[in-house]
Amino acid sequence: MPSDVAAIVLAAGSGRRMGGTNKALLPLAGQPLLAHCLAAFQQAPCVGQIVVVMNDMDLDALQKEWNCTPQDLGADVVVAGGAERWQSSQAGCLAADASLDFLLVHDAARALVDSKTIEAVAQACRESGAALAAEPLADTLKKETAGGRVAETISRDHLWRAQTPQGARREDLLKALEQAQGNPTDESSLLEAIGVHPLLVPSPSHNFKITRPADLALADALLAAQKTIS
Ligand code: CTP
Ligand code: MG
Repeated sequence: MPSDVAAIVLAAGSGRRMGGTNKALLPLAGQPLLAHCLAAFQQAPCVGQIVVVMNDMDLDALQKEWNCTPQDLGADVVVAGGAERWQSSQAGCLAADASLDFLLVHDAARALVDSKTIEAVAQACRESGAALAAEPLADTLKKETAGGRVAETISRDHLWRAQTPQGARREDLLKALEQAQGNPTDESSLLEAIGVHPLLVPSPSHNFKITRPADLALADALLAAQKTIS
């Protein structure tokens, strides 16, 4: 399979729900969190280029706290992000090598992504133009009344939890970003708005987003368990 994908790794957030620290810099199994997903993208044969989106202040902190740069961890290009996630995504997509046919955008905060999932999303992009990693919902869903009681149970049939990577043909994702309205929180919603409906690619639950301190502890425990097993 060709290396026809530019991977855009978003690491320009401020981690408010984590207590106000960029999550990419946090320690996870003895490494900066950013190192984990970069290793998975480096192992995926579809990836021809890795663009990391990270702001100067955090690049300085990475150097100071970990004595490394994103390039040391596998990045080919580093660009600054924007105020909102979609703006960081746009900055990364615009910086990608134009000779690569597909753009795959990934949240650095999904540190436990694996190369198999990355390959599967890339292949789905080749076959259907756009795709995203996602997980079918496992929980029963409740809609609430104004008083906080259950109004009704919602069927979880056909409902999925969106993850990343998410991507599309280069020209489609650039067009979707160019026409962005409001504050879209993923690439799929941008693509849907221009009439491109990405394919859902089943992805493991360990590809969850590290959002709060408990998520970081869970990721650490999963990595420690993996080490014991292998
Ligand atoms: N992100 C980004 N640029 C932004 C906002 C988010 O690159 N302006 C990145 C984050 O670094 C993260 C991913 O998008 O890897 C998913 O966002 P989220 O989990 O919401 O991270 P933060 O925005 O940093 O966290 P919070 O919303 O709690 O502040
Ligand atoms: Mg955020």
